[in-house]
Amino acid sequence: MAAIVSEKLLDWYDEYARDLPWRARPGEPAPDPYRVWLSEVMLQQTTVAAVKPYFEAFTARWPTVEALAAAPEEDVMAAWAGLGYYSRARNLVKCARAVAELGAFPEVEEELRKLPGLGAYTAAAVAAIAFGQRAVVVDANVERVVARLFNLTDPLPGVRKVIRACSDTITPETRAGDFAQAMMDLGSSICTAREPKCLVCPLANHCRARAEGDPASLPVKAPRKAKPVRQGRAFWIERDGSVWLVRREGQGMLGGMRSLPDNGWSARGDGADSAPLEGEWEAAGLVRHTFTHFALELSVSRYRGADRPSGEGEWWPLDTLDEAGLPTLFAKAARLALA
Ligand code: ADE
Ligand code: SF4
Repeated sequence: MAAIVSEKLLDWYDEYARDLPWRARPGEPAPDPYRVWLSEVMLQQTTVAAVKPYFEAFTARWPTVEALAAAPEEDVMAAWAGLGYYSRARNLVKCARAVAELGAFPEVEEELRKLPGLGAYTAAAVAAIAFGQRAVVVDANVERVVARLFNLTDPLPGVRKVIRACSDTITPETRAGDFAQAMMDLGSSICTAREPKCLVCPLANHCRARAEGDPASLPVKAPRKAKPVRQGRAFWIERDGSVWLVRREGQGMLGGMRSLPDNGWSARGDGADSAPLEGEWEAAGLVRHTFTHFALELSVSRYRGADRPSGEGEWWPLDTLDEAGLPTLFAKAARLALA
């Protein structure tokens, strides 16, 4: 069954592959490894639609891995703002510099895996898509398709190992990159989470869930715990048409990003109730934002007064605030403060 599945899927892909800016058309020479790597890093945890404009902007500004390696980290962080999971941007710069040092991207999975920020998924995807190596590429779309094809009814995350082993059995020796992307396309357009369109699926005759199970119920997920809710405060300090911005320290969640000053919720859970200035504060409202492991309720306070905050920071002109590279949480807070 393995060979027939990959054959049918690749035939389908030859006809229906999505045209995406980081892809080669089926059968054309493989795309630039830099573009493959960049797109795969961006696409982790983020939708194709959200990634497209960022991918275009990055490749216009930094057309090669050498150009990206030479960029100041702050510029890359600011350009990444809005995509989330900012450790990806920090690792992006580190990885670009490592590749520039090496002279080129390594071509095999084990070597790619050693680069900063390249996990099992990205290493396999780059090896397969950019270098035509046989590698088993499993993202969330592939997980769903494979769980259904093999009618795997044990819950995630435990069933992941079995999913991987099953994916391995259907991955072809050649065109592994097209095969992986075909699985992703099938998962996003036909074998969708809620209502799989089995009637038009090229793999319908080989699908065990369709024959003997309930495709829409797969993959089964272990129940998730409710996320804890943290509270924080952010401070909007405005003077002469500018707002006071700081750069966040460390390697943590938002480390390296520009932001409004806050009371330290990100480091300690619930920050102390300390404002960076004595004076008259008014409430501008509440921003809710969801991170991977917790939800945040950030209350925004606006300062009216003449004093300058203590500590490091910069006055940023309000009319170019969209160029400051604020992460989405603080962009929301700014919108609230300006409303
Ligand atoms: N998601 C992750 N990588 C992808 C790719 N190469 N094509 C489409 N969706 C993806
Ligand atoms: Fe998914 Fe249905 Fe195709 Fe099976 S037949 S792979 S469940 S779309």
